Amino acid sequence: MKKRRRIKKKVIKLFVLSLLIIIALIAGISNIKERIDYKNSYDYKLLQIGYSEKEIKEIKKLDNKQINKLLNKKYNKLIVKFMKQKYFIFSNLDKYIEYYKKSENDDLSYTISMINTKANYKFYDEKAVTKTKVEDGNLMLVNKYNNLTKEYTPTDLVDVKNLYAYGENQIKKEVYEKFIEMWTDAKKEDLSLIITSAYRTYDYQEKLWNSYSNNKGEKWADSVAARPGHSEHQTGLTLDIVTYGSKMNDFENTDEFKWLSENAHKYGFILRYPKDKEELTGYSYESWHYRYVGKDVATKIYKEKITYDEYYAYYIENKKD
Ligand code: DAL
Ligand code: ZN
Repeated sequence: MKKRRRIKKKVIKLFVLSLLIIIALIAGISNIKERIDYKNSYDYKLLQIGYSEKEIKEIKKLDNKQINKLLNKKYNKLIVKFMKQKYFIFSNLDKYIEYYKKSENDDLSYTISMINTKANYKFYDEKAVTKTKVEDGNLMLVNKYNNLTKEYTPTDLVDVKNLYAYGENQIKKEVYEKFIEMWTDAKKEDLSLIITSAYRTYDYQEKLWNSYSNNKGEKWADSVAARPGHSEHQTGLTLDIVTYGSKMNDFENTDEFKWLSENAHKYGFILRYPKDKEELTGYSYESWHYRYVGKDVATKIYKEKITYDEYYAYYIENKKD
């Protein structure tokens, strides 16, 4: 009887002991696994490169493909600084850093705008010029780096009534309808809007630019007019608007301009060449040149105070919401 009990005790002891060994082994293995996992983690790898915990938190907002790309780069404190900028585009990162180092302007957002819009290239630089994606419809980008073919003609062009314009003009139907709505609402406030230029053909733009250039030289022509293929007027989405008795350059001092500045976006129009954005747009301030992009996009641009070039780079090409 006693012997049996002793054997039973021994068996239990052995059982408990092996159980403890198994538990210890499992704990050990999971500890090793945890350590291996940590060494494979982004946190560990980024720490090794030299990023701080704060910076790592920011980097982990990127997708895995982007983080993996960063893992192949040396630490640079500018990386996270650029990442925190509103219009940051990951694929431009190296260009931002390179441009920033050479730039005299130490405002990071300036570098972001210049690179996103390609304004780091000379205007019309053939290395930067590409064809406009006309399939973007109302949102197509036409500027000094994006051009239309000689043959491009917009669809749905309609004649503008004399009531709304000086001389003969054509414009896309949707734009015309929105302009009439805007014109009518302005009228209710005793304000009169008048179109001085709407759709322009490639050939017309060529003549216009040539005449400016012949009169006052290429540099001046480039600051006020687009070269053929590069004018938004060829899209049929753009209107030059002034009021009776005002010249283009005086338009900014009128009540009509003030009203348009506060209301044009509600009808889908944006001021395309704003003051102090010449470096991005390539044109002197034009208080009269309005581009139709539709109400939602116009409102966003109005609120964010950006140029269409910046909007397009970030929200359309880079597909951010
Ligand atoms: N005046 C604008 C820039 C154009 O010629 O299209
Ligand atoms: Zn214009």
